[in-house]
Amino acid sequence: MGDLNETIRDHYQAGVGEQGALLARLSAMIDQLEGPPSSQALAAVDQFHVGGLKATAELAKRVGVRPEMDVLDAGSGLGGPSRYLAETFGCRVIGIDLTPDYVAIAKLLAERTGLADKVGYRLGDLTQLPFEDACFDLVWTQHVVMNIRDRDGLYRELRRVLKPGGRLAFYDPIAADEKPEPFYPVPWAASAETSTLLTEDETVAALRGAGLKPVSFDDVTLEAMGWLIQQQAPVAQSPLNLGVVIGPRIGELVANFGRNLREGRVRLVMGVCEAV
Ligand SMILES: C[S@@+](CC[C@H](N)C(=O)[O-])C[C@H]1O[C@@H](n2cnc3c(N)ncnc32)[C@H](O)[C@@H]1O
Repeated sequence: MGDLNETIRDHYQAGVGEQGALLARLSAMIDQLEGPPSSQALAAVDQFHVGGLKATAELAKRVGVRPEMDVLDAGSGLGGPSRYLAETFGCRVIGIDLTPDYVAIAKLLAERTGLADKVGYRLGDLTQLPFEDACFDLVWTQHVVMNIRDRDGLYRELRRVLKPGGRLAFYDPIAADEKPEPFYPVPWAASAETSTLLTEDETVAALRGAGLKPVSFDDVTLEAMGWLIQQQAPVAQSPLNLGVVIGPRIGELVANFGRNLREGRVRLVMGVCEAV
C-alpha cells in the first residue's frame, strides 16, 4: 500500500515543481484578483472535481450542513470544498490529504481567505485516520475514493470517526455495470494501478457493510457532462485555474475523463449515507 500511495502522491504533485515557488505564484495571482478571494473567485483553481463549485453546493444542499457541525473533508485536495462549507455555513472543517504540496496550498489559501480559524489541513491517509472514534457530525468526500483499493476498509474508517446518526456525503466516479476499461490517464490516475472503480451495487454493498446506510444515491453524470461542455466555451477563463497546479497535462487528463463519461465507461454519483 505504501508504494501505491507514493505513486498516487507523485501523480498529483507532478505539475507542482518547487513548492515555495508555486505558493508564491498563487499568492501573487490572488493579489491580482479584483475582489476578495471568495470561494467563487477561487473556484476555478481549488475545486478539484467535475462540476466545480456548483457540484459542491449541490452536495451541501443534499446532506444539510449546519453551523454547529464538525466536518471531516476526506481527501481535501486544495481545500476549495472545505472553505466553501466554512464560508457558507460557518461550520468547522478539518481536511486530510495524502499529498504534501496540496496540504501546503490548502493552508495558504485558508490564510489568504481569512478562514484559518474555521478550517485546518493535515497530511494523512484516509485508511488510517488520526482521529478518535465518533468525533465528526459529517464526513465529506468528493472524487477521492476511486484512488483507494481497500474500499471496505476505507468506509469502515470513515464510519468509525462519525458520531452515531452522523452523515457521509459523497460525490464520486464509479464504474458502469459491465466494468468497461476507462481510458487513462485521467485526473486521478496515470493508469489502472491506482484507480479502483466499483459498480453501483459494489459501492452500496461496501457502504452498507461498513454501517453506512444510503439515504440517497443519484447518478449525476449528465449534469457533470453539461458542466464539462460549458468549461470548453470560449469565454474568458480565470488565469487562476487548476492548470496552475496540475500543469499542461491537464488538457489530456480532462479530455479522457470527458470521453469516459460520454462513452459510459465511468459514471458519477452523488449521495448521502447515515451512520447506523
Ligand atoms: C481529485 S482530488 C479531489 C480533491 C477534493 N476532494 C476536491 O474535490 O477538490 C483527489 C485527492 O485525494 C487525495 N487522496 C487520494 N488517496 C488518498 C488517501 N488514501 N488518503 C488521503 N487523501 C487521498 C489526493 O491526494 C488528492 O488531493
